[in-house]
Amino acid sequence: MTSTTTPAATAGNPDYRDAGLVFPDSFIFGSATASYQVEGAFDEDGRGPSIWDTFSHTPGKIWNEDTGDVAADHYHRLEADLDLMSSLGLAAYRFSISWSRIQPTGRGPANQKGLDFYARLIDGLIARGIRPIVTMYHWDLPQALEDEGGWTNRATAYAFADYAAILGAAFGDRVDTWTTLNEPWCSAYLGYGSGAHAPGRTDGAAALAAVHHLNLAHGLAILALKPLVTNDPDFSITLNLHVLRGEGETGPEAVRQIDALANRVFLGPLLKGAYPADVLEDTKGISDWAFVLPGDTEIIHQPLEVLGVNYYSTTLVRLWDGESPRENADGHKDVGASPWPGADRVEFLAQPGPYTEMGWNIDPSGLEDLLVSLHEEFPNQPLMVTENGAAFADTVVQTDDGPRVHDVERTDYLRRHFTAAHRAMARGVDLRGYQVWSLMDNFEWGYGYSKRFGIIHVDYETLERTPKDSARWYAALVATRTLPA
Ligand code: FCB
Repeated sequence: MTSTTTPAATAGNPDYRDAGLVFPDSFIFGSATASYQVEGAFDEDGRGPSIWDTFSHTPGKIWNEDTGDVAADHYHRLEADLDLMSSLGLAAYRFSISWSRIQPTGRGPANQKGLDFYARLIDGLIARGIRPIVTMYHWDLPQALEDEGGWTNRATAYAFADYAAILGAAFGDRVDTWTTLNEPWCSAYLGYGSGAHAPGRTDGAAALAAVHHLNLAHGLAILALKPLVTNDPDFSITLNLHVLRGEGETGPEAVRQIDALANRVFLGPLLKGAYPADVLEDTKGISDWAFVLPGDTEIIHQPLEVLGVNYYSTTLVRLWDGESPRENADGHKDVGASPWPGADRVEFLAQPGPYTEMGWNIDPSGLEDLLVSLHEEFPNQPLMVTENGAAFADTVVQTDDGPRVHDVERTDYLRRHFTAAHRAMARGVDLRGYQVWSLMDNFEWGYGYSKRFGIIHVDYETLERTPKDSARWYAALVATRTLPA
């Protein structure tokens, strides 16, 4: 979203280190993971390969050649992990379902053992009073569908709707929130544009086709699910909207271009029923958008009980002057191709620190701006922070009270972003909850196991779990609904 420079209406600490802020009783505190990042058991109980299995097993794609074969072994440690969630007092667990565990080739009848695993997970959550927030797709497309074109193929959207119907029939009586897709921006532009993510294709036109077919899959899935659910769930999608800051005279134009490709190409069809005209214009040299068929935008435009928002940092842009050495702080130079079809002149500038271990700048005002600007544009749209958190290098230390991880920086990051969320609520934003990324350390995509986002430490040798100090801090917040110092 474009940045608003409106000063925060609430008085508070300028560095967002407030304490004592109270969250409403209805606020849903939880934590999030994703199937490929935590489950492991990659070839067990009938699971078929996904594009992330293929990608992670391709030399040179992942740091240290790490794979998700074992990951945090959540698949085998489910009961213990559920107990850990319970011990933190979480009100929700946001997890994703591996499509290729349910349909090994992305089509055809359900694999009962796959359904059984998620039934155990969902029932285990409910038994502990934890709401299941299901993400139906967190990037792990069945490889067999990729072999037929993946998200560049319209048929994938229809296959996704069939998968949604299987999930609806199996769990449609007890899921709290159905999130169709996680961050379709990443699936489309990193998967098919820059190639930094699976399936690793580098073709701008393919990325734009993927954007549309992901949007279409979202709409079709909601239409398939709705008649099957028997409780009263929320329907949702999670976006990683970019909080854009422009620099200098060309800042506004650079912001417009990236806002179109990153934000409005999703928000437009999802919440307004139309693609923004400027995105079609900006990309016309790359694609004619003939893949958008009559009726598609109506299908995509489904009511969302809640819109999921993932936020980590801000993005600073301007137009390149064509002469000076070009900056590319979003890192796409490292991977060769650009994830921004049609925005060739946009420069991504380094931003002031501090930074997390990912090199991402820490700026809680970005979260406040994002939530407030969404609220201003879509005043009746409830929102949920579905991911926020930080990677830092952690060490386990032995103390008289047992093993501990003193992750001061992560705790501080969370405190500052919870402050930002609270300030947004004080400015009228209907924010329903907050899912900390991540419940436990896990496979961080191209970075493998080198980046730790968990509030629970995972020893990748022994798979032992150790709640970090941030988890203890979070448990105190959840228990009291009051931001601890
Ligand atoms: C988001 C992803 C999530 C995790 C965090 C750090 O883009 O949705 O799986 O990798 O970033």
